[in-house]
Amino acid sequence: MAELKQRSEFFNKKLAGYLKQGSPNSLYDAVRYLPLAGGKRLRPIIAMFACESVGGDFEVALPFGVSLELVHNFTLVHDDIMDKSKLRRNLPTVHATFGGPLAILAGDTLFAKAFEILHGTSVEPSILNELSFNMSKCTQEICEGQQLDMEFEKRKKVTEEKYLEMIEKKTAVLFAFASQGGAIIGNGSLEEIKSLKNYGKFLGLAFQMWDDYLDLNSNEKKLGKDIGNDVRNGKKTLIVIHSMINADDVDKNILVNILGNKDASESDIKKVVNVFKKTGSLLYVKKKALDFSEKAKKSLDVLRDSYAKTILRELADYSISREK
Ligand code: IPE
Ligand code: IPE
Ligand code: MG
Ligand code: MG
Ligand code: MG
Repeated sequence: MAELKQRSEFFNKKLAGYLKQGSPNSLYDAVRYLPLAGGKRLRPIIAMFACESVGGDFEVALPFGVSLELVHNFTLVHDDIMDKSKLRRNLPTVHATFGGPLAILAGDTLFAKAFEILHGTSVEPSILNELSFNMSKCTQEICEGQQLDMEFEKRKKVTEEKYLEMIEKKTAVLFAFASQGGAIIGNGSLEEIKSLKNYGKFLGLAFQMWDDYLDLNSNEKKLGKDIGNDVRNGKKTLIVIHSMINADDVDKNILVNILGNKDASESDIKKVVNVFKKTGSLLYVKKKALDFSEKAKKSLDVLRDSYAKTILRELADYSISREK
């Protein structure tokens, strides 16, 4: 998407100015490593277009966007420790590069920095107060979702409903807050703010389902992350949940034996993917993701037509067609 590229270049230029080197160098090397390694910048971009879609100036939403991106990066640094991931944004992960203790601290620093930068937003104090309160609530929900995600690894059975609750918390709430916050900063009406929040939530649900799909249907070079990690960790993605219900006994055995085996080989992962294909689980999840992406677009109906609205619609499509 050309707009995505253009806005992320704009964002990247600004971000560097917010993330100056500090002392001790060793800490700030680790703090700056992931945010300055690129990434899609989807959350700040959504915040800026949401702001524009209600008639606001997207540059006013920039510090808010930076703080969203830093919260996101903080959760990624810690997520990679939790998921034992080696690769992120085509680079060795923060903990693989700097070690676990420094990675934990780098994550903490990013989280604190997010609030410092949020406080530089040029809005009335009451609005800043609301944004800051929501940012902290949102981060707590991400932690709740992340803990559910980890607990589910150990569980034999997880329902689709529980999966949806988990991904809403770990992923969708931050997208919901990105579009909601952008609309608040842009001075949108209550109806616009609410609709944009829904847009972000539905987009976020679709986005995470597609992320689960990519874990099995991409390659490291393209994705910039480890492939098959969810299988090795025994993650209860919707693909797994659906396949376990629909597989015959032989195939169920294949799943049970390979899911959660940290030493599973590439050929083991292929076997699992074959079962997922046989049970129609990849198609099932793709269809679900498509439904949520359509719901996201539908949520935009209350907005007046604009360039920003068109881009937000395209971003909902992009979330479930992206290759990384
Ligand atoms: C990855 O997020 C974590 C999930 C919520 C699935 P992104 O896919 O947005 O990662 P970057 O920021 O582009 O690297
Ligand atoms: C992570 O979900 C969501 C976060 C809140 C960090 P994943 O664990 O699936 O994200 P990736 O695949 O490592 O990017
Ligand atoms: Mg994870
Ligand atoms: Mg992960
Ligand atoms: Mg993932």
